[in-house]
Amino acid sequence: MNLMRKRSLYRHVIPLLLLILLTISCGAASTQAPPKQTTAALSTFSPSLRSLAQAHSLYIGTAVNADALQNEEHYRDTLAREFNIVTPEISMKFDATEPERNLYTFNKADSIVAFAKAHNMQVRGHNLVWYQALPSWLSSGHFSRGDLMDILRQHIITEVLHYGGKVNIWDVVNEAINNDGTLRDSIWLRGIGPDFLDLAFRWAHEANPQARLFYNDYGGEGMSRKSDAIYNFVKGLLQRGVPINGVGLQMHINLDAYPNPQDVLANMKRLAALGLEVQITEMDVQIQDDPRPMQAKLDAEGQLYREMLSMCLAVKQCTAFVMWGFTDRHSWIPEFTGHPDAPLIFDAEYRPKPAYFALVGVLSGR
Ligand code: XIL
Repeated sequence: MNLMRKRSLYRHVIPLLLLILLTISCGAASTQAPPKQTTAALSTFSPSLRSLAQAHSLYIGTAVNADALQNEEHYRDTLAREFNIVTPEISMKFDATEPERNLYTFNKADSIVAFAKAHNMQVRGHNLVWYQALPSWLSSGHFSRGDLMDILRQHIITEVLHYGGKVNIWDVVNEAINNDGTLRDSIWLRGIGPDFLDLAFRWAHEANPQARLFYNDYGGEGMSRKSDAIYNFVKGLLQRGVPINGVGLQMHINLDAYPNPQDVLANMKRLAALGLEVQITEMDVQIQDDPRPMQAKLDAEGQLYREMLSMCLAVKQCTAFVMWGFTDRHSWIPEFTGHPDAPLIFDAEYRPKPAYFALVGVLSGR
């Protein structure tokens, strides 16, 4: 069955199944608005995000913090129950995996990959080439162009080979383009020149020809100079025969600054028309600067999650919807901005927020 037909079929079948399930579990209460639910209550009668997403042939996921995964049972339970794709939040980055030259440390990322395998989840490898998260031996070293090419090639090949068939999606290049469309300054651009981009994709492909290779960035979700530049960049890769399979739209947004959803749709469609996959890879919604009362902010946050997931569902080449964390207990935003926030779909006590129910609503056709 083609994916679009499957999606529209489920749009009708899932609400019906949900209604039957709710009628059985809640009796007369099923006609009333759902009570505020705890995660425990959720697991007794509500279908998980992953089961709903599967019916649309969509992966739904989150970034994973290796320490929380190790230390918090509630974190593990919620992760396993709700999601079918994960992205290690920091543990696959250059500084985490090659802290000394030619000394590789994969144990934290390995624990995430093992959890994913045990729970039948996909893994997005993140990331192979970035201007940040570089170990000091690299950022403060003085290397020739040839040295830097050897370092990058070794790093990419070693990491991709280490994960072999366990990681079949890689963010090969992360955030290489500025908002004005020019190439971002980095040790790679300065030391190797713009060729580093083509080379990174070619080396990743050499190490795992089965893996789907992505360019991933923020601020290029809608229509803008940056998204035009990303579009032209990936089109150029394809024209030169460089192996690339998809574009990741990070989607770090704010209640008061977000791309027009129709523009996101148009951008996804033009990328898909090149024959590429698209994925939403790091969604979160900052609410800290908005002056409205908390409940209004949480509802508006839910509305943005609803709209962005709807755009993804409307394009069959949009194959995954991934958030940058799932509980406000572990979000990078407070540290990044210096202020408290609540950007994710579960609160700090793992209770589902309006944003969670917004995603359930989209996936069940409501
Ligand atoms: C962030 C992590 O969440 C933080 O814990 C870390 O301190 C910095 O990096 N875009 C990306 C991610 O591609 O890798 C970043 O992750 C967030 C922005």
